[in-house]
Amino acid sequence: MRTDEIRRRFLTHFEERDHAVVPSASLISPDPTLLLVNAGMVPFKPYFLGEQPAPWPRATSVQKCLRTLDIDEVGKTRRHASFFQMNGNFSFGDYFKETAIPLAWELVTKPLADGGYGLDESRLWITVYTEDDEAADIWHRVVGVPQQQIQRLGMADNFWSMGVPGPCGPCSEINYDRGPEYGREGGPAVDGERYVEIWNLVFMQSIRGEGSGKGNFEILGDLPRRNIDTGMGLERMATLLQGVDNLYEIDQVRPLLERASEITGRRYGADHQDDVRLRIIADHVRSALMVIGDGVTPSNEGRGYVLRRLLRRSVRALRLLGLGEPGLPALLPVARDCMAGSYPEVAGDFERISTYAYAEEQAFLETLRSGTTILDTAVRETKAAGGTQLSGDRAFTLHDTYGFPIDLTLEMAAEQGLTVDEGGFRELMTQQRQRAKADNVAKKTAGADVSVFRDLLDRIGPTVFTGYDELQTEAEVRGLLRGGSPVGGAAAGDPAGDVLQLVTDRTPFYAESGGQSPDEGVLTAPDGTRLEVLDVQRAVKGLVVHTVRVAAGEVRVGQPLLAAVDPEWRLGARQAHSATHVVHAALREVLGPSALQTGSYNTPGRMRLDFGWPSAVAAEQLQLVEDVAARALRADLGVTATYMPLAEAREIGALALFGEKYDETVRVVEIGGAWSRELCGGTHVAHSSQIGQVLITSETSVGAGVRRVEALVGLEAMRRAARDRIVLAGLADALNVPADQVPDRVVALAARVRELERALAAERAQAVLAGAQGLADGAVDVNGLAVVAAAAPDGTGADDLRSLALDVRSRLGEARPAVVVLGAANDGRAALVAVTNGAARERGVKAGALIKGLAPLVGGGGGGRDDVAQGGGGKGAGVADAITAAPGLLAEQPAG
Ligand code: SER
Repeated sequence: MRTDEIRRRFLTHFEERDHAVVPSASLISPDPTLLLVNAGMVPFKPYFLGEQPAPWPRATSVQKCLRTLDIDEVGKTRRHASFFQMNGNFSFGDYFKETAIPLAWELVTKPLADGGYGLDESRLWITVYTEDDEAADIWHRVVGVPQQQIQRLGMADNFWSMGVPGPCGPCSEINYDRGPEYGREGGPAVDGERYVEIWNLVFMQSIRGEGSGKGNFEILGDLPRRNIDTGMGLERMATLLQGVDNLYEIDQVRPLLERASEITGRRYGADHQDDVRLRIIADHVRSALMVIGDGVTPSNEGRGYVLRRLLRRSVRALRLLGLGEPGLPALLPVARDCMAGSYPEVAGDFERISTYAYAEEQAFLETLRSGTTILDTAVRETKAAGGTQLSGDRAFTLHDTYGFPIDLTLEMAAEQGLTVDEGGFRELMTQQRQRAKADNVAKKTAGADVSVFRDLLDRIGPTVFTGYDELQTEAEVRGLLRGGSPVGGAAAGDPAGDVLQLVTDRTPFYAESGGQSPDEGVLTAPDGTRLEVLDVQRAVKGLVVHTVRVAAGEVRVGQPLLAAVDPEWRLGARQAHSATHVVHAALREVLGPSALQTGSYNTPGRMRLDFGWPSAVAAEQLQLVEDVAARALRADLGVTATYMPLAEAREIGALALFGEKYDETVRVVEIGGAWSRELCGGTHVAHSSQIGQVLITSETSVGAGVRRVEALVGLEAMRRAARDRIVLAGLADALNVPADQVPDRVVALAARVRELERALAAERAQAVLAGAQGLADGAVDVNGLAVVAAAAPDGTGADDLRSLALDVRSRLGEARPAVVVLGAANDGRAALVAVTNGAARERGVKAGALIKGLAPLVGGGGGGRDDVAQGGGGKGAGVADAITAAPGLLAEQPAG
């Protein structure tokens, strides 16, 4: 039976029994205690806890799940997968054990022809929690399972919680006996591989507290109502019903295994280690598809890191199987085809998904190339020094500088017989994180502990933001802090400091968020008090904190003030933020819908937008983007902001920043209706023409698969254009050509200059050498040495000087000892050269010693061989002194 069919039968069974069919929630967990959804019940947690009323008394779903805690087991066992689907039925205070147990049994044992799974009753074994007589009784008495096939197990096996404080309860599992070839006799209590768990029924009735492990926590009390949460692993069931050995061989995964085997040329089933790697690839590629499909993108943190790890592990497994080129382009489409039956969105969104996956593979292959060399060197050095452990420092450098993840370092070091000082590595990581955190907190909240703001929020309630409608608001001071500690008031020039954090009941000031920079402005009182706003942040959700400097007067808690945003500033901010949306829409129009924003920043006059794209955007395309943006401005599109439920916003295709958490009610900003539709809390212009102008100034890379465009907006764009025009006019004037011929003219001029320089240099060399005979003729006798000491024309370069000296020497011949010393000033610097002939050297005259003696006169140093030596210094004017001094120095040489 195909996996899709198992899924369908499950939902139908429960739908026919009054359960609302709830679509799978995104893998991105709605629960802040989890990164990714790891159980079918996660989206329903608030209903179990009674935090929210359940919309239905009973529900059923097939939930996408991801678990990476046991990632190292993937591929090695029959049943570990990172991505899996959980079929579940849920009761929110409606039915309990007496109904849940027979409902599950019915579906599992109902004949195939009647829509069930048709499992043989005699092979089904039940486990219940030690003390749960009630459940054991229902299994035996109501359902008819023989006593000997019901086993009782403790907390570790039959008590379920999310691993963290939250709902929990005893559970009961249905297990299937796969037969003696899979293990020992004796039921699930004895062998979990042979008696595989297929369905877990949790009787969710208690609340657990802090603790660890599967049994080491306190039960804090009862949930408001008794609930049911069941989970049947879809892949497990498929393994059984398709009669295959393990979950990598089911219809949704097997084609990936086969494709991986094809591209690596390794046959599945031939070698254990190869099989493990092929399974890792199949599992991880499918998981990555689903995770990117839900909007996660690779990064070094949180969910992004989970994804990065999955992708990198599969790329590495491919390499270990001998593949020398990117493998994902062959594999990801297969994963798509396997999953699109149940999740059509992975086909619809495949271009975006594959863009991220392929870019990550490319980037990682690069990392592998450079990092592996560094790692190998580190391993070699460690071994050469007799060590068996790679230092934490090395591992940290590999991570920090080369992007080499620690798990990879561990794995690769182990392959070469070394361990890694993981403790040392983690210590360095912690230090780095703490530094970053300290920087961040210091920056955002001026050193204040966030809990101070949380207390303030509890006490005075959220700040009302009035800035969408007005720029001036009468506000009352509700809280004042200096360096994170509450104060009652402060005055200008206060010796304790006049920079404070100020919280008011209402404010028109926009706190930095959604990429928009904080508003600037002042708070004033009629008595002349004036506070300048330096920064505005939402220190905790709901609380706007202004960092202010008391410029005049005095401020105290309870004081009324007029809060006024600088209108010029705000207009610029609105233009810049709307321009960001326009550029985003224009990019997607030109490059395609997969060019999605990953981050942005805008402040009056300028904006930048980061977006997912695998390669540099060509200049012509950028020009097109600018053109599309200009047309959108000219069309004077209306800009609107509407509040609506998140689900509705998603339905109409409003773009959200993936991975961001949004409230149930969201604000949707539209420019030209559907042309640009984004979830956004920012301040915007009313019509696109108010943006004025958008001028793209750069396009760069900011990491694997992410590009950044920067642009000037409004007046800044116009000023830049005007400045460029003036520069161009000046150039055209100076070159005496029309503006559009400036580039050609400059290129031609540069070529001409190069040509002239070459001719000049040749000329000079000629001229210099032409003087050689004259110099040789002017040799004077010093103690029987023929000495030429002369200054060459200014501007003679060191090379020419040396050629000249050698030329003079050859003209002097070998008949008598000869020395040539030449110098030249060039751009204020001095060059010196000395050469000796063989006869001179026989007398012990050394060119190097000579230069050493003369160089200080030109403010420098030098030296060299006995036959040819060069020197120089920063004192061009000293050349004459050096030349004059040369014969004197030589006179001190021993006579022949
Ligand atoms: N929450 C239980 C589990 O994950 C049953 O759905 O096993």
